[in-house]
Amino acid sequence: MPTPIDPASPLQLGALELPNRLFVAPMAGVTDRPFRMLCKQLGAGYAVSEMVTSRKDLWHSLKTSRRANHEGETAPIAVQIAGTDAAMMAEAAAYNIDRGAQVIDINMGCPAKKVCNKWAGSALMQDEPLALQIVEAVVAACAPHGVPVTLKMRTGWSQQHKNAETLARAAEQAGVAMLTVHGRTREQGYKGQAEYDTIAAVKAAVRVPVVANGDITSPEKALAVLRHTGADAIMIGRAAQGRPWIFGDIAHYLATGQHRLAPRTTEAKTWLLAHLHDHYGLYGEFAGVRTARKHIGWAVRALPGGEAFRQHMNTLDTCNAQLQAVADFFDLLSVQHDRLPEAALVLDDADDAPAAHEAACSAH
Ligand SMILES: Cc1cc2nc3c(=O)[nH]c(=O)nc-3n(C[C@H](O)[C@H](O)[C@H](O)COP(=O)(O)O)c2cc1C
Repeated sequence: MPTPIDPASPLQLGALELPNRLFVAPMAGVTDRPFRMLCKQLGAGYAVSEMVTSRKDLWHSLKTSRRANHEGETAPIAVQIAGTDAAMMAEAAAYNIDRGAQVIDINMGCPAKKVCNKWAGSALMQDEPLALQIVEAVVAACAPHGVPVTLKMRTGWSQQHKNAETLARAAEQAGVAMLTVHGRTREQGYKGQAEYDTIAAVKAAVRVPVVANGDITSPEKALAVLRHTGADAIMIGRAAQGRPWIFGDIAHYLATGQHRLAPRTTEAKTWLLAHLHDHYGLYGEFAGVRTARKHIGWAVRALPGGEAFRQHMNTLDTCNAQLQAVADFFDLLSVQHDRLPEAALVLDDADDAPAAHEAACSAH
């Protein structure tokens, strides 16, 4: 079993240095700029933005322009692009570089049936020549700017067609600077368990950094995955929802072998309120209040009274009412709990995640 890498050590990505090896996964509808910044503030070394479509006609839509908004974001700015046409993907890369992207990530991991009305994301893994054409075109578009290209994929198309290793070798040859592998096939969606043997095989097959992703929910699991795969970094998605301090928890555990204490209730309140202010700043009141509900729901879901609070909070329509309700909830909780009570983490239901994903990916 390989000795795991020190996740607190920096990672070189092209000319960029990532401060550590604990990454937050791109999640459409979740990892907007406010959430990425929160994760970075609480220990994530790297965050990839939500997918931006390669369809030019949608670039000026409110949704895409919000996604391409990186104001005040801690560098490096990494933007994920998705699409099925090599020339359009190359243009999308150049467009995002013009808007501040320092890394371009190609999405071959998205399980949603369609991205912008065409099969894209992990479906590309089924068509290796097209996948490679896209990689080559995007690398060619990014190279003059010195912008590294990364690729996020699954273990393969189906249990019978696990081609991550083949694709990884080809992508490396084509100039990809880092690979992320989610340990499920496209066919699996979010069902079943992520497996790490294929990620270990990819790591052994290439020289560029490999990032392991899928079902990492605790410091112990993080250590186990790093050991099993020999990966250079890990990426966490759903377990960071409502728990953005998980990156710091993992770093602490890997450095000391000890769990650190749960955050103080007042600290969690301060982080959430600051996140909400930032969130409303990006979305405005109407959309902001509504899209904040899921973040608040995740933050309280495992807490005493969380479910009743979530239902009540969903009836509130203004930023002030939402902020006040959140503050009151945590103030009341802090009377009995100086620190957040430990509770089992429940990931988004396997059946809900693809639906949420698809909804988030499709409308622009
Ligand atoms: C709501 C949601 C949206 C997602 N959106 C994207 C996306 O836009 N691009 C992508 O490459 N992966 C996307 N993913 C997949 C995640 O990046 C990650 O690979 C997956 O959730 C497995 O990691 P986890 O078990 O730590 O959540 C999404 C996942 C979820 C749950």
